[in-house]
Amino acid sequence: MSSTVNLHKKYLLLAHSLAKKKFGNTFPNPSVGCVLVKNNKIIAQASTGKNGRPHAEEIVLKKAGNKSIGSTLYVTLEPCNHKSEHGSCTDQIIQSRIKKIFIAKVDLDPRTKYKSIKKLKKNGIKINVGITSYKTDLLNKFFFNSLINKRPFIKVKMAISQDEKIAWKDYSSKWISNNKSRNYAHKLRAQSQAILTTSKTIIKDNPRFTIRNKNKIIKYMPVIIIDKNLKISLNTYLIKSLTKRRIIIFTSQSNRKFNKLKSLGCEIFLLKEHKNTNEFYLPLIMKKILSLNINNILVESGGIFFTKLLLCNLIDEFHIFKSSLKIGQSGKPMIINKKFKDLSLEEISKKKFGKDVYQQLIIKK
Ligand SMILES: NC(=O)c1ccc[n+]([C@@H]2O[C@H](COP(=O)([O-])OP(=O)(O)OC[C@H]3O[C@@H](n4cnc5c(N)ncnc54)[C@H](OP(=O)(O)O)[C@@H]3O)[C@@H](O)[C@H]2O)c1
Repeated sequence: MSSTVNLHKKYLLLAHSLAKKKFGNTFPNPSVGCVLVKNNKIIAQASTGKNGRPHAEEIVLKKAGNKSIGSTLYVTLEPCNHKSEHGSCTDQIIQSRIKKIFIAKVDLDPRTKYKSIKKLKKNGIKINVGITSYKTDLLNKFFFNSLINKRPFIKVKMAISQDEKIAWKDYSSKWISNNKSRNYAHKLRAQSQAILTTSKTIIKDNPRFTIRNKNKIIKYMPVIIIDKNLKISLNTYLIKSLTKRRIIIFTSQSNRKFNKLKSLGCEIFLLKEHKNTNEFYLPLIMKKILSLNINNILVESGGIFFTKLLLCNLIDEFHIFKSSLKIGQSGKPMIINKKFKDLSLEEISKKKFGKDVYQQLIIKK
């Protein structure tokens, strides 16, 4: 690789590292980083703002002011072509008289895809695309995936025993994984926009679904609940913490409890059961979740719901923490009528947390 390509790669890698630092704070938007360079000196750098706005390019241009004239921009994703408060990023870049842009990856959002690149070129700006596209792909996999599949990116997190059980016979609440695994599980939550769960898991566990660091609550995760018969109690921790988080419920019951939950601030949606199964059609729920601007979810449920998602091909990533303890035959299984090892999965990462083994897996292509 020539030394000039190396130099461009160095600035792009810096932009990627800025994007990585912000990952988890920009949903539903991807996390993007950019660096503005002039005469081989960095004049400004930025990443996407909280909840996706302002865009990294807008911040960097504001920071640089007139210094941007004749500079080179390194950005991890094609700048947007759709209108924002001060015009699209593409228009702002043209106005700033930047000379050259290195774009790591084309944006798959149909509003932007190649449109910005064309417009920038038409305005005399030199464009290079793709030197580090793999980096943007890896970090913002959820974003591209949800655009392609027209549903959220769906990850499942599960703690299982050595004999692949997720709970004891009587659903007694005991930890399966150890402290270190649970700390890592909080990182997985931080990389997700919302948790998806069932009324049954809520009834059995009364989960908090927060992100904690040394027992201090850092975030109350938004939670989506599948509750066909509206069984969750108004006294659960989730409902009690409603003012601090977004709660979305899917149910088939339009009754007093429905109205009560709505008046408390839940976003509650009435759905019809599928006539063949008497259950909700999960692909439809996923479409609805996407329409609510949620494109990256972490499923935390038991084996029944996990199996339903598997049957509908609705899992993009598996995050499995396997502990060394055994629960025994009477325990609740992680999958119904199947063994986990019989799924055709590919391991993409593996870690050890004390005696627990963590695996990140995807469906084998
Ligand atoms: N180890 C772990 O990582 C982990 C994580 C979470 C939970 N858990 C444990 O898992 C246990 C519960 O597991 P589980 O397998 O018995 O239950 P589950 O998978 O959490 O929930 C099953 C319930 O979800 C509802 N459901 C599933 N698919 C549906 C659909 N398509 N439409 C409408 N409703 C649907 C049904 O509830 P209704 O028909 O009753 O409405 C069904 O009975 C709890 O003890 C909890 O502690 C373990």
